[in-house]
This record gives sequence, C-alpha cells and structure tokens, in this order.
Amino acid sequence: MKIIPSVLFPLSLAVICLGQTVHADEAADAKTLARGKVLYQNCVACHQPTGLGVPSTFPPLAGSDWATGNEERVIRVVLHGMSGKVTVKDASFNGNMPAFGQGLGFNWTDDKVAAVLSYVRQSWGNSAPMITKEKVTEIRTKGAAGRKTAWTPAELESFK
Ligand code: HEC
Repeated sequence: MKIIPSVLFPLSLAVICLGQTVHADEAADAKTLARGKVLYQNCVACHQPTGLGVPSTFPPLAGSDWATGNEERVIRVVLHGMSGKVTVKDASFNGNMPAFGQGLGFNWTDDKVAAVLSYVRQSWGNSAPMITKEKVTEIRTKGAAGRKTAWTPAELESFK
C-alpha cells in the first residue's frame, strides 16, 4: 500500500513542474508579442495598424506568404530591406522597404527584429511560428554578414 504514494508523489511533482514550465513559456511569449506590438508602431505608416497595407503602394502583412512563410526570407526583409517588383496576395508592388537591422537604417537589435516579426506572424489571423532572436542573429551574422543593400524579391526567393 505504501507503494502508491511513493509513486504518486514524484509523478504529481513532475506534472506540477511541467505545468509551470508551460506557463513560463506562455508568459514569455505574451511579453514578446506585447513588445512586438509596440515596435510595430514603426511599421504602421506603411503597412497600417490592420496589417492590410495600402493598395498598389504598401503590401499587406495580413495573410501574406512573405510574412508568414520561410523565416529566412522575412528576417532578411526586416534586417536589410526589400526593393523591386513583388507579388503579395495576388497584387503587384514595386516599392522600397527600409532596413531595420543592426548597423543599418533603424539600427534595431536582433531581439527587436524577432519581437516585431513574431507579432506580425501572430496577428490579424496570421498564425505562423514566432521568430527567436537567436535565429535573427544567425541570419545577420552568417547568412548576410556585411550586407548593406536591400534584397530584391528574386534574391529572397533563392532562400528555401
Ligand atoms: C516606409 C514604408 C515601410 C515601412 C516603415 C515598413 N515597410 Fe515593410 N515593406 C514596404 C514596402 C514598399 C514593401 C515591398 C517592397 C517591394 O516592393 O519590393 C515592404 C515589404 C515588407 C514585407 C514583405 C512583403 C509582405 O507584404 O509580406 C514584410 C514582411 C514587411 N515589409 C514587414 C515590415 C515590418 C515588420 C516593418 C516594421 C518593422 C516594416 N515592414 C516597415 C514598406 C515599408
């Protein structure tokens, strides 16, 4: 009979610990998204608070494959900017997206880039995975070290 409590006790402890880890992760994600929302104020002039952009001038982020797809591409868009003819949600755009990355335009740290992109990927019905600051650092330092110019959509498409 003694066996039951001795099994149950560690088991219930493990369940409690697991529960707390999940809560801690959720709290961290909520904090990142709240920060991303504030940082997104730097994007609203063009992409609008709704994420819908401005027809034929600024592309939408809501429902955009660029925003919600391959993270290597979208990280590069925000780090270095994007320029040239692009199709987003079946509409054509040909404008200039400014660079936000460290040492460029807005000179944002990697965690700011990660937070704003996580917000974009989780807002207005988008439900793509969040982006970590480690991934932004990886792309900035390895994939595109020293890059100063905006990417063309064709260049970005080469990142699979
Ligand atoms: C001055 C206007 C402007 C600002 C500010 C701006 N963008 Fe953009 N963004 C653009 C334009 C224009 C394009 C399309 C570039 C092209 O035509 O090649 C674009 C493209 C994009 C794309 C890829 C296409 C799409 O619609 O999904 C993403 C993602 C994006 N921007 C995210 C952001 C985020 C996040 C911010 C803020 C951190 C931001 N942009 C700030 C103008 C802007």
